[in-house]
Amino acid sequence: MAMGDRHVLLVVFPGQGQINPSLQFAKRLVKMGVKVTFATSVSAIRRMTKTTPTTELGITFAGFSDGHNEAFKTDDDLEQLMSEFKINGSQAVTDLITTSVKQGQPITHVVYTTILSWVAEVARGLHVPSTLLWIQPTTLLDIYYYYFNGYGDAIEKSVSDPSFSIELPGLPVLTNRDLPSFFLPSNPFNFALPAHKEHFDTLDKETNPQVLINTFDALESEALKAIPKLNLLAVGPLIPSAFLGGEDPSDTSFGGDLFEKSGDYVEWLNSKPKSSVIYVSFGSISVLSKKQMEEIASGLLESKRPFLWVIREEQQNGEKVEDKLSCREELEKQGIIVPWCSQVEVLSHPSLGCFVTHCGWNSSFESLVSGVPMVGFPQWIDQPTNAKLIQDVWKTGVRVTKNEEGIVDSDEVKGCIEIVMGGGEKGEEMRRNAKKWKELAREAVKKGGSSDKNLKAFVTHALK
Ligand code: UDX
Repeated sequence: MAMGDRHVLLVVFPGQGQINPSLQFAKRLVKMGVKVTFATSVSAIRRMTKTTPTTELGITFAGFSDGHNEAFKTDDDLEQLMSEFKINGSQAVTDLITTSVKQGQPITHVVYTTILSWVAEVARGLHVPSTLLWIQPTTLLDIYYYYFNGYGDAIEKSVSDPSFSIELPGLPVLTNRDLPSFFLPSNPFNFALPAHKEHFDTLDKETNPQVLINTFDALESEALKAIPKLNLLAVGPLIPSAFLGGEDPSDTSFGGDLFEKSGDYVEWLNSKPKSSVIYVSFGSISVLSKKQMEEIASGLLESKRPFLWVIREEQQNGEKVEDKLSCREELEKQGIIVPWCSQVEVLSHPSLGCFVTHCGWNSSFESLVSGVPMVGFPQWIDQPTNAKLIQDVWKTGVRVTKNEEGIVDSDEVKGCIEIVMGGGEKGEEMRRNAKKWKELAREAVKKGGSSDKNLKAFVTHALK
């Protein structure tokens, strides 16, 4: 099939953490001459279009309702959202595939992101092949796989056993603190666990099951080989070229922000010395309690270092952000608080010294790729596992410890920042490792690198 006849329908969960790597994946396919239709919730597309001229990306966008007008938040009824997204999405995917045939540009392959396992079933019903694009580390895919394949009872013991630990094939020893939060009965998102089982059920039905993963070979070499019957293809980092020393320096943003950026931080960053700034962000979903915000604020103030803190204004469960931070005036003498920024741009700025992160996979990966060491402050889903990898496997950061009240107090915040940014041997090692991963990430995506080859192999063989 000629390249221009290859038409991929990419179906994406409407969260920023899935939209960003998926958009980057779509942009790479478009560059290779493949036509891409990007489908997600109609509200996400409306918000992306408001912040970015998405028409410049060369991608066709198609929206369907998830029953919400805004991007989802942790206090939404996520189970209902997932269910509406599936019902409306099944119809939309069917319509898009049948219409594409009538229009003479048939969709020849469907790619869907993590937890949208239903898409594969719809595609199969219409005789269109499909592939899962996994937007978390391979390690997470392995953990879920082994949970459903022989280790379920053992992993469940983590809930009641404080000294629990487990060794899964190809992975480091994991304690209960390192497991994804889906396994906890208290997790508001644990209803999504069956969607992971469906991923493996779907892959079981395929003759040559493969999964595309936003990682790279050198970063997760063992994890990528941990499931012998699955072909796990690393195609990352799915990050704009300009931040990977790539061929296209004009590719400087993902191109689909759900939030409006503030415009005043670049000048502020420019005014700061090299490696001096602490960047603090908890991604696009997490909401912290007032008590936790105040502790972070005190820790930052006590660190006496400049900081850029992203606090999304609409995130605060009806509470005004100002009410969550009693010392805002004092904070703004030492740092800058913004509602949203271009994170990849911030992380690549020479003034950056440390990222205090919730360890969402994109944030962790973007930091690694930019050579910025981290303070891991995980909240839920894959984040505890990502924090484990950052601290103990990739050794580019330190992870916070909560006190008896379940809060990370200001001394801990300040102490972790000092470990990462101070002059001690541990910090030196993290900074050295961060530089090493930055170089290896660039190697992976450059022409002939492992991820570049894998992506080309996918386009040549799977999309043919
Ligand atoms: C969610 C989950 O929480 C995460 O654990 C999972 O790995 C992916 O999906 P989210 O919490 O939003 O994602 O975090 P993350 O994965 O870090 O994605 C956030 C994205 O928003 C990143 O690409 C980051 O660059 C971007 N961002 C964040 C900005 O561009 N500006 C900001 O101010 C903050």
